Amino acid sequence: MKNKPIGIFDSGVGGLTVARQIMDALPQEHLIYFGDSLRAPYGDRAPEQLAQFSRQIIDFLMDKDIKALVVACGTISARIFGTVEQMTDIPVLGMVVPGVTAALAATKTGRIGVMATAGTVASGAHRTAILTQRPDAQVMSVACPLFVPLTEEGWSDNTVADMTAQIYLADMAANRIDTAILGCTHYPLLINSIKKALPSDVTIVDPAVVLAQDLKKTLGDAGLTRVDDTLPVHQFYISGNKEKFDKISALALKVSCDAQVVKLYGNK
Ligand code: DGL
Repeated sequence: MKNKPIGIFDSGVGGLTVARQIMDALPQEHLIYFGDSLRAPYGDRAPEQLAQFSRQIIDFLMDKDIKALVVACGTISARIFGTVEQMTDIPVLGMVVPGVTAALAATKTGRIGVMATAGTVASGAHRTAILTQRPDAQVMSVACPLFVPLTEEGWSDNTVADMTAQIYLADMAANRIDTAILGCTHYPLLINSIKKALPSDVTIVDPAVVLAQDLKKTLGDAGLTRVDDTLPVHQFYISGNKEKFDKISALALKVSCDAQVVKLYGNK
């Protein structure tokens, strides 16, 4: 059981930023990644559809005999985490709790910005979790729907990305937040543009850093940490365009991956 892989999934390349943090925190673990790039973005899809997609992907990953599941998609984590948790009996980790934990640890003023997909913002998941722990906090959430297609296209560090970030984040920048959560796993790939759009004293938190530590603890507590010294094997599967994914993976993972295209749902 200890030597089984960890399953990770997202709508596309975004979850690779989470995979990177997991590789850094748990360098001995095997990873199996699924990016549903053919159906990205997930950002404004209905919860029922997100549940159907998650079911298909989790069945695929469970067939690969994973020991834990990371929902490396902010939207699924925010909208249907409880439903996804019930789809399997292995440990499941999502992105909302780690993001909120990191933000509450970083903020001094309690003025917290959340940038995320439209679905995540509509769910109010971050706001609810923040206010439960810090009732005097002020949460400002902004949907940034163009960030995901920009990232999937590999346009993560150009003037279009800079201008898009400036427009989306102008109110947040003017609102004297001291901490901002990257509420979508694609957004760390736009970090340069996001930094330029916010005042330099705003702390930007990537939930994946805390998630990787939470995962380490979860595996340790469950006796599931891989003990073998041999190098881990990572596998990457996608539903969409391989060339695009492999190219962006070099940015997101800092190593390129040779993704395999799979037909989960009768796609071309
Ligand atoms: N990266 C995912 C998230 O964290 C999905 C974004 C999308 O596909 O719209 O929300």
